[in-house]
Amino acid sequence: MKLKNKIVLLTGAASGIGRSTAIFFAKEGAIQILADINQEGGEETVKLIKKEAPDAKAEFINLDVSKSGDVAETIEKILKKYGRIDVLINNAGVVRVGLPEEFTEEDYDLLINVNLKGTFFCCKYAIPYFKKQKSGVIVNLASVAGHIGQVNHANYCSTKAGVLGMTRALALDLAPFNVRVNSVSPGATDTPMLRSDVAKNARERGVDFEVVKKEFEEEGLFGRWAKPIEVAKAILFLASDDSSYMTGADILVDGGWVAR
Ligand SMILES: NC(=O)c1ccc[n+]([C@@H]2O[C@H](COP(=O)([O-])OP(=O)(O)OC[C@H]3O[C@@H](n4cnc5c(N)ncnc54)[C@H](O)[C@@H]3O)[C@@H](O)[C@H]2O)c1
Repeated sequence: MKLKNKIVLLTGAASGIGRSTAIFFAKEGAIQILADINQEGGEETVKLIKKEAPDAKAEFINLDVSKSGDVAETIEKILKKYGRIDVLINNAGVVRVGLPEEFTEEDYDLLINVNLKGTFFCCKYAIPYFKKQKSGVIVNLASVAGHIGQVNHANYCSTKAGVLGMTRALALDLAPFNVRVNSVSPGATDTPMLRSDVAKNARERGVDFEVVKKEFEEEGLFGRWAKPIEVAKAILFLASDDSSYMTGADILVDGGWVAR
């Protein structure tokens, strides 16, 4: 087991890549604190873990990562209960797409607050403990959108490019404390996030969902979307000692999208 008894804080665990990662990590022996704003989805993830890995320990906590004070309080509580945190997975994220001239400030604030500040707050409040422990691993969810431009995604792209920059800079700050910081950049992955993105795009263009789905599928070289578990496997690699000489790096799990 690659995460036996490791204390893991995983955000955005109620859905998609986060849920798949939580179930996968449970099978690898992790003790997990699963955070999300979606209580029902988070509790469903815990139920699925109980079904698929009955011996695994996992609890759900309701946390909005964009609220600095709540993140600080939650990390404090985890420390009190478990005594340490070994792995932080910053997976919570939101997408909003649209033409730049029509994109609302409110939507941009949401993207910045969750994707960028949420990732930063979780790091900020976990780092003092990682430094004290002289160990720790952070994995951030970036995106192909951090590497290349996507039509109608200027605001989302800017947050994910920010996550890549944050990952590299934190790697420098934390290497002296034996703390590694890396990211995973998924391409089109079959989750509720991507499906709602595609549905909106199809509605706006007055075309069928399947038409837009096919366009996204063809961005990768395999002509299909990734399954969330295919991304979770890269997250596990970076979270475990298998990647002990990696920091400040990004793994693209994009079916070759960026290689074009
Ligand atoms: N699906 C894709 O194609 C794709 C591609 C590239 C990157 N990503 C990134 O992967 C990560 C996971 O995405 P997904 O596709 O599984 O999306 P998803 O929408 O299925 O899951 C995201 C989860 O984050 C949670 N969340 C949203 N705001 C939150 C907040 N303020 N605090 C706590 N939790 C919050 C949601 O409730 C949800 O459970 C995101 O960071 C996303 O940007 C996804």
